[in-house]
Amino acid sequence: MVAAERTKTSDGVPEATAWPTISKEHHGIRKLAAALEATLESSDFRAGGDTPPDYVLASKFGALWGLLVVHFAGEEKEAGFFSHLRAALPQRAQRIDALLKEHGEYLREIQDLVAAIALLAEPSERPRFLVRAKVLFRRLREHESRENELAHESAGEQATGLGAK
Ligand SMILES: [Fe+2]
Repeated sequence: MVAAERTKTSDGVPEATAWPTISKEHHGIRKLAAALEATLESSDFRAGGDTPPDYVLASKFGALWGLLVVHFAGEEKEAGFFSHLRAALPQRAQRIDALLKEHGEYLREIQDLVAAIALLAEPSERPRFLVRAKVLFRRLREHESRENELAHESAGEQATGLGAK
């Protein structure tokens, strides 16, 4: 119990589950993904004009990947956000498992997209790349929204004393 106690803040909430941290990271992820989506939706890119240099796109996708790796690791670690959700919402285990599985899918998809950047010199390759990227950004937004919903649900259960002990 000593280790568990060390992870608690003054109000007794385990640090790794502190909602402001997770929420702030979700905001950063949304912002970075939206900036990347805007770059890919630029009229030049869609019309077959100049694309941003490969290294710029790779660097932006790499930044998103890095942010997600750290964010997902924080959510998944022992006494982290997901273990908090599992304890507070045992009836939502399937939804929590699905969210966890998606983490790996997003990281793999970003790696695949980075690998496909080299193909963008050929304008006919761009629509498919754009669709894949937009699907990824939409899935990420929905994913974080579902996490937000579960966080609010768990907070509501704890406030009303209905959370699992
Ligand atoms: Fe998240």
